[in-house]
Amino acid sequence: MRSEYSAGAIIYRSDPSGISLLLLKKEGREAYDLPKGHVERGESEEAAALREIKEETGLAVNLFPYFSTSIHYIFEDHKERVSKHVRLFLAKSGDQKVRISEEHIAYLWCPVNEAGELLKHKEMLHILPDIRDYIDRYEEMHTLNSEYSRLPGSIKGWSLSKTFVPGEGPLNARIMLIGQAPGANEDIQKRPFIGRSGALLSKLLEESGIGRENAYITSVVQFFPPKNREPSKDEIALCRPFIERQLSIIKPEYVVLLGRVAAKAILGKDSISDNRGKIMENNGIRYIITLHPSAILRFPKNEHMLKSDLELASRELKKDKKEDAHTISA
Ligand code: URA
Repeated sequence: MRSEYSAGAIIYRSDPSGISLLLLKKEGREAYDLPKGHVERGESEEAAALREIKEETGLAVNLFPYFSTSIHYIFEDHKERVSKHVRLFLAKSGDQKVRISEEHIAYLWCPVNEAGELLKHKEMLHILPDIRDYIDRYEEMHTLNSEYSRLPGSIKGWSLSKTFVPGEGPLNARIMLIGQAPGANEDIQKRPFIGRSGALLSKLLEESGIGRENAYITSVVQFFPPKNREPSKDEIALCRPFIERQLSIIKPEYVVLLGRVAAKAILGKDSISDNRGKIMENNGIRYIITLHPSAILRFPKNEHMLKSDLELASRELKKDKKEDAHTISA
C-alpha cells in the first residue's frame, strides 16, 4: 500500500454568533475539506501547512505553537489503496478576506458543531471535540490576558513594571508551574522564565522527562517588581484572581509551586523545607511545592532537591497518563 503524508490546518474565526471553521470545496465533490496538502521533501510539517493555507485560502496566519493533532485514513486512488497521514495545526483568522485557489469552487465558515457533518473525512469527528476544547481555552486565556495586562492602568500608585508577561505553554497542559514574578529579562522579552533561572528550569524539566514544551509556565504576579524585589502582599492579592482563573482554564492535574511566594500565595504554606518532596491535594489538583530555580542559582548544592521534585511530578504524570490516539500536543 502506498503511503502519503500531508499537513494542513483547522482555521477558525470567532464572532458574536460563535466559533466557525473554514471549509473548502472542490469541483465535483459533495463534501468539504480543510486546507491541506502534501508535505514536500525536506519541508517541515508547519511550513507545509502554512504554504497550503496561503495557496488554498490566501490567508497569512500564525499556527498555534502548542497544538497539533493528526488523522489517518485509507482511500483508493485508481484502484490502488493509499494510507494517508495528515498532521493538522490550529490557527485563528483575523478579518482578512478568503481567496480560494483555482482548484476550489467554494468556501464556508461553518459553525464548529456542524462541521463534522460536512467534512469529507469522518475521522475528523473524533478530533473535533479536542479542537473545540482548545479553541475555548484559547479564547478564555486571551480575554484573561487582555484584562490582566490592563491592570496597571486601573490601579492608583502602581509600582510594578507596566509590562505584562503572559503565561506560556499548552493550554491543555497536564502540568502547570507557578513561579514568583518575572525578572528583568522576562520584562524585556515578555516571556516567563527565559533568564538564568529559566535556563536552569528548562534544563531540569528536560532531565526529569517532563519537557518545558509540555508544561504551562506562569507566575503568581505577572509584572516585574523593580530591582527584583519580592512582590508585596497587596500586589499578590491583586494578581491572585488571575492565577485562579488560569488554573480553571488549564485545569492541570499537577501544579508545581516554585518557591516560598508561590507556596504561600496558592496554598498558604510558609515553609518549603517542611512541605517539599510530596504531593498535596487541594480542590482536585495535586500540588508539589519545591525550591525556586533562582534559589538554586544562589545555592547550587540544592539543585538535587528541585530535580527530585520535578522527577516526582514526572513519575506521577507517567503513572496516570490518559492515552489519546487522536491528539498529540507537540
Ligand atoms: N522567576 C519567576 O518567578 N517568574 C518568571 O517568570 C521568571 C523568573
